[in-house]
Amino acid sequence: MKKTSNKVVLVGTGAVGMSFIYSAVNQGLAEEYVLIDVNAKAAEGNAIDIQDTMAVLDKPFTIKAGTYEDCKDADLIVITAGRPQRPGETRLELIADNSRIMKGIAEAIKASGFNGVTVIASNPCDVLTTVYQQVTGYDEHSVVGAGTTLDSARLRRLVAEKLNVAPKSVNAYIMGEHGDSSVAAYSKATVMGQPISKYLAEGKITEADLEECWTRAIRMAYEIIERKGATYYGIGVCLNAISSAILRDEKTTFMVGAKLNGEYGQKGFYTGVPVILGSKGWETIIEWDLSDAEKEAFKESCDALDATYQKAKEAIA
Ligand SMILES: NC(=O)c1ccc[n+]([C@@H]2O[C@H](COP(=O)([O-])OP(=O)(O)OC[C@H]3O[C@@H](n4cnc5c(N)ncnc54)[C@H](O)[C@@H]3O)[C@@H](O)[C@H]2O)c1
Repeated sequence: MKKTSNKVVLVGTGAVGMSFIYSAVNQGLAEEYVLIDVNAKAAEGNAIDIQDTMAVLDKPFTIKAGTYEDCKDADLIVITAGRPQRPGETRLELIADNSRIMKGIAEAIKASGFNGVTVIASNPCDVLTTVYQQVTGYDEHSVVGAGTTLDSARLRRLVAEKLNVAPKSVNAYIMGEHGDSSVAAYSKATVMGQPISKYLAEGKITEADLEECWTRAIRMAYEIIERKGATYYGIGVCLNAISSAILRDEKTTFMVGAKLNGEYGQKGFYTGVPVILGSKGWETIIEWDLSDAEKEAFKESCDALDATYQKAKEAIA
């Protein structure tokens, strides 16, 4: 009989993980949630806190604190465990600590017999997604990085502010590393169905505006961390959208982390690229015909990532 309920396991019940769960229960993502954290008491406390919403929210669900054994029959695992960026620290500086944490989590999930899709948000996101897939040996399509989903959402909002339109009317994309070397693929950006070049030609937005939006999108995490110590609501909502596309087999386009296998001239690691997301994870990488400058910037981003991945491999060897 076709399974009609969805089970989601969250590993890492900190600010990002619980923002995801809060968004998920509000949107009715799944019927069953299990929370796992190295701090078991925190996972229990978070489960009880979310149980308090059950009498008020419309869609029924269950939620409890659990262990890796609960992963066995899960449909989706979302990993947000790790220590977050400290003020002034780049995502890549988190490598060694979080690679070791990710290796342990990957081994525990694999040992459970899990056979679903995994979504990873822990930073440095592209590198840790690559580490997880390498350690588990899971089909690369079933491992999905948060990639540049959040970065692209930030860019859409910033460009929308310049044009005084709704962020949803802007389709603008950031590719490559979820971090400092990411690339704004403006050659593929559209606003209300028109290419952004039309708005440039009409003087409604300038090249300098676009450069500023890109730079601010990259720096947004630092802007927020400097003020409140961490970022979590934006990524929490993005993780819910990614999870929904997977659990509902939506076949939606997302800028998630997918493993490159020759696409865009790169191979062997995950990074943010346009993909079709469905029940098996990322199905197809869409190969855009980027401008020469975008191609060059994407190559530089991938070179930086590959070098970082090599450092991660040393840390977990
Ligand atoms: N991809 C993105 O766009 C994005 C955006 C924001 C934050 N992040 C990243 O998400 C991660 C979590 O950030 P946060 O603010 O929630 O941090 P946090 O410190 O609030 O939460 C991290 C949680 O992970 C748990 N944890 C640590 N080691 C663990 C282990 N081995 N097994 C299980 N749980 C473990 C901690 O106990 C804690 O509850 C960080 O790496 C952060 O950089 C990613």
